Amino acid sequence: DWTMASVVEESVAAIRERVGSRRAICGLSGGVDSAVAAALVQKAIGDQLTCVYVDHGLMRKGESEQVEKDFVAATGVKLTVVDAEERFLGALAGVSDPEQKRKIIGREFIRVFEQAASEIVAEAGEHGESVDFLVQGTLYPDVVESGGGTGTANIKSHHNVGGLPEDLQFQLVEPLRRLFKDEVRMVGQELGLPEEIVHRQPFPGPGLGIRIIGEVTKERLDLLREADAIAREELTAAGLDREIWQCPVVLLADVRSVGVQGDGRTYGHPVVLRPVSSEDAMTADWSRLPYDVLARISTRITNEVEDVNRVVLDVTSKPPGTIEWE
Ligand code: XMP
Repeated sequence: DWTMASVVEESVAAIRERVGSRRAICGLSGGVDSAVAAALVQKAIGDQLTCVYVDHGLMRKGESEQVEKDFVAATGVKLTVVDAEERFLGALAGVSDPEQKRKIIGREFIRVFEQAASEIVAEAGEHGESVDFLVQGTLYPDVVESGGGTGTANIKSHHNVGGLPEDLQFQLVEPLRRLFKDEVRMVGQELGLPEEIVHRQPFPGPGLGIRIIGEVTKERLDLLREADAIAREELTAAGLDREIWQCPVVLLADVRSVGVQGDGRTYGHPVVLRPVSSEDAMTADWSRLPYDVLARISTRITNEVEDVNRVVLDVTSKPPGTIEWE
């Protein structure tokens, strides 16, 4: 496709021109956007780029391993993995407000990036150039919905990392900010990234932190990780991965309802399934999933995930609902 080839060529040239001989870091989130942004920048500046994978403890089951394995295998990129679970969960303790969560997560991301940047410079020794640039996989819809577009209210602090602090020490490189998701996938294909990466469903930078309604704790994250893994497993087994845009699983952590299991009363949490179909995430419709698939997901989650005794289906389109609950 000549259009995508020229998009790649032009943006590679622009990145080279801007970064010169300096260094950049790129946070990898496991999602397609950051992967494509990283691959594009790597093409432009090679190993002046270091990717940083921040394991913030808000990832889904198996996600960290996948990023570490698949992406490095596909691109040969330099990758630093930072275990930052305690830092993030500590910062999020006691916080329930969605925008506050996003801002905290964004801020902690930047702190980790700053620390990683100074370590990269220290390692490079006296000939090391400073790390001046932060690469982000921000897309056009993210720009619009964060209020950066024309005439649109701020819906969510939507940066790839969930909202940036004001005293940012990096210059941002956002090579995808004019593209929609389908175009990003085409760029990824053009760059030779494997199918598993190019067709991965969207996953938000703030991770499961914005899928727990209420305070984010390790216990709640573990619950949600189990429920989410079951839903993903069943959707994949049913061959629905390419049909649905994504299916957030949301834990209503502050809500309890009465149930009965075996001969005992339970008083557990509901989880919400939020399967959507969409072209660009700006609008979405709820997916009409087959009842038998929904039934399997529901049965397995309530049987296998302790403390979850109810599964509900979100049948709201966007608008008026957003895809994520926070
Ligand atoms: P909403 O909830 O605004 O989501 O309808 C639209 C799409 O964006 C994803 N999303 C994010 N992606 N950082 C991201 O990289 C974020 O902070 C973020 N918030 C939402 C969401 O999963 C959906 O695909």
